[in-house]
Amino acid sequence: MSTSTSSPFLAACRRQPSTHTPVWIMRQAGRYLPEYREVREKVDFLTLTKTPELAAEVTLQPIRRFGMDAAILFSDIMTPLEGMGVDLEFAPGPVIARPIRNAAAVTALRPFEAEESVPFVLEAIRILRHELPTSAPLIGFAGAPFTLFCYVVEGGGSKTFSTAKAFLFGDSAAAVSLLEKLADMTAAYLRAQAEAGAQALMLFDSWAGLLGPLDYRRFALPVVTRVLDRLGTVDRPIIYFPNQGATLLADVTTLAVDVVGIDWRTPLSVARATLGSAKAIQGNLDPAALFAPAAELERRIDRVLEEAGPAPGHIFNLGHGIERTTDPDQVARLVDHVHERTAVGGAA
Ligand code: CP3
Repeated sequence: MSTSTSSPFLAACRRQPSTHTPVWIMRQAGRYLPEYREVREKVDFLTLTKTPELAAEVTLQPIRRFGMDAAILFSDIMTPLEGMGVDLEFAPGPVIARPIRNAAAVTALRPFEAEESVPFVLEAIRILRHELPTSAPLIGFAGAPFTLFCYVVEGGGSKTFSTAKAFLFGDSAAAVSLLEKLADMTAAYLRAQAEAGAQALMLFDSWAGLLGPLDYRRFALPVVTRVLDRLGTVDRPIIYFPNQGATLLADVTTLAVDVVGIDWRTPLSVARATLGSAKAIQGNLDPAALFAPAAELERRIDRVLEEAGPAPGHIFNLGHGIERTTDPDQVARLVDHVHERTAVGGAA
C-alpha cells in the first residue's frame, strides 16, 4: 500500500537508508501538550478514545506542532479488553474492578470481534489516513499478552505485579490459557488495525522486565510468537518493545519482528550487538534528558545517535513514554536536532 521511499520511518523499519533518521516519541499525544489538555477538559479519557474525531484530532496534534516522522494512534493498550468482557476505568491509570484470577474467570472471557468491539478505533484510523501527510505514517498498536495479563490479573498498575506473578507461578495452566486468549485477541485487533489502514504495528511489552529470562522464555515469549504467527500474512513492519528487557534481548532476537524498541537503560550499541543486523532498533533517549538545559539535551541526543551507529535501521525515540511535566519546546528542540544532525549531506 505505502512505499517506504516516501517515508524515512518506513524505510528505517525495513533497514533501508533515508534522508534523515526518523523520530517520534512514545506518548507523543498527551498531557504535556496544552492543546491535549484543552480537549481533556471537555471529555474524560475513555470518551476521548471512543470518539473517532477526537482521537484523530489528538493524534494529529504532535504531528502539526513538531513534524514527527510517524503518528501513533491515540488509544490505550487496555481499550480492546472491554470486548472480551473485562470492565475498565481510568483513574488516570487503568482500573479493573473485577480482576481475572482463576480458571473460571478465564473461561468466562468472550472471544474478541474487532468490528463489534472497537469500531471507534477502526474509524479513527480511517479518518487519520485521510488527514495525515505521507511523511507521517500511522502506527497502530496493542499491548503484548504478558503486559495485558499483568493489568487484568492485578486489577490496575503496580510496581511489582505480585498478584499477577502469583497467579502465573501458582496456577500456570489457567495463566497460560489467559495469556493465549489475550494473544488471540491481540492478533485479531492488530490485523483489524492494519486492514483499516495502520501502516506499522507496535506491541508494547511494558512489563516484560518483571520476568527473569527463564520465565520470559516460558510464559511471555511464546505468546508474542503466537501473535506474530497469527499475523503472518499481514504485510506491515512490526515493532516490539520489551521494556527493561536488557537480559531478554537474546530471546527477543528469535522473534519475527522488524524493529525492537530499546529502553533507556541499554546502550544501543549493546542492543545492536545482541540483536544482530537483521533487526532495526528504536530508541532510546532517557525521557529525563528533556528536563536538561538545551546544550546537555543535544549532547545526549548526539550520544544516542552515535550509539546507534551509521548503519540504516535506527528510529529515534525516547527510551520510554514522555513525562507529563515536559516542556513542549524541548520536544521541538529534540525533533529539530535529530533531523538537522542526521540530514544526508548536512552536519552529520
Ligand atoms: O501518544 C501515544 O503514545 C498514543 C497513546 C497511548 C496511550 N497509552 C495514551 C494514554 C499509548 C500508546 C498508550 C500505551 C499504554 N497504556 C501502555 C504501554 C506504553 C508504556 O507506557 O509502557 C501502558 C502500560 C498503558 C496503560 C496506561 N494507560 C497507564 C499506565 C496510564 C496512566 C498513565 C499516567 O501517566 O497517568 C494510562 C492512561 C493514558 N493512556 C493516558 C494517555 C494519554 C493519560 C490519560 C489522561 O489523559 O488522563
